[in-house]
Amino acid sequence: MDISLAGKRAVITAGGAGMGRATALAMHGLGARVLTCDIDEAALATLPDGIDWVRCDVSTSSEVAALFADVDTEGLDILVNNAGIAGPTKPIEEVTDDEWRAVMGVCIDSQFYCARHAVPVFRKQQHGVIINLVSGAGILGYPNRAPYVAAKWAVTGLTRTLAMELGPDNIRVNGVVPGNVNGARMEGVIKAHAENDGLDVETVRRLYAIGTSMQCYVDPEEIADLICFLCSDYGRHISGQIVGVDGNTETLYPRS
Ligand SMILES: NC(=O)c1ccc[n+]([C@@H]2O[C@H](COP(=O)([O-])OP(=O)(O)OC[C@H]3O[C@@H](n4cnc5c(N)ncnc54)[C@H](O)[C@@H]3O)[C@@H](O)[C@H]2O)c1
Repeated sequence: MDISLAGKRAVITAGGAGMGRATALAMHGLGARVLTCDIDEAALATLPDGIDWVRCDVSTSSEVAALFADVDTEGLDILVNNAGIAGPTKPIEEVTDDEWRAVMGVCIDSQFYCARHAVPVFRKQQHGVIINLVSGAGILGYPNRAPYVAAKWAVTGLTRTLAMELGPDNIRVNGVVPGNVNGARMEGVIKAHAENDGLDVETVRRLYAIGTSMQCYVDPEEIADLICFLCSDYGRHISGQIVGVDGNTETLYPRS
């Protein structure tokens, strides 16, 4: 098997860090023409030459419209809806309106805004692939993370529905579920969980590992590899799936 994305055009949201960055680098390496965005311009500026980028807050409809301004005329093959924020770790009664809206804005509104721009291009071409970043929180319950869970379950529903709605036009839609991903984001989640539950950080780190069958953490590059496979011609009949790279998450909240 020799995966190539040569000649394919991809938009990847939030490519400044984490899995978005890993995916942008991987797709670029496989020959795709990549356009990414982020709110962190300094991070975008460290991407290698050949990867196009613009500053864009994908939770804002008008900014997403600007992101897609050229795409509408130049065509597009792949949309990776990667942007997502963890939101607060706290009991539901303490979650503020602003915290709730911020998570919905980045995790689910953004996917709707981007899909709305990509789909007409895909329909015209009679092909296209959308990858939505889900989470174990979009499949399981996760105490003290209500906004994130609600947004990610919405991502699961959007993914399954768009796969049905767009399949007749040869447009594939899949969800990818990262597990415990090594990096700054996961460290923040562990720290917030430890503080909220009155546990030490190492205990919480171990709890997340034992919540998976393989008792593991994964690297951003592993998620990027799956996304590249799904977007390649090898994935040409894979649609409507929610696929984990997570060692099989059994629970996000093992009771300590
Ligand atoms: N890290 C994990 O363990 C994990 C686990 C499951 C699911 N996920 C999901 O995977 C996706 C990627 O997560 P990650 O950990 O790589 O992300 P991350 O926290 O490393 O952030 C990546 C980038 O998102 C950017 N960003 C934040 N808000 C933005 C906005 N409004 N518009 C544009 N860019 C914005 C940040 O500036 C950052 O550069 C997210 O949807 C996340 O919810 C992550």
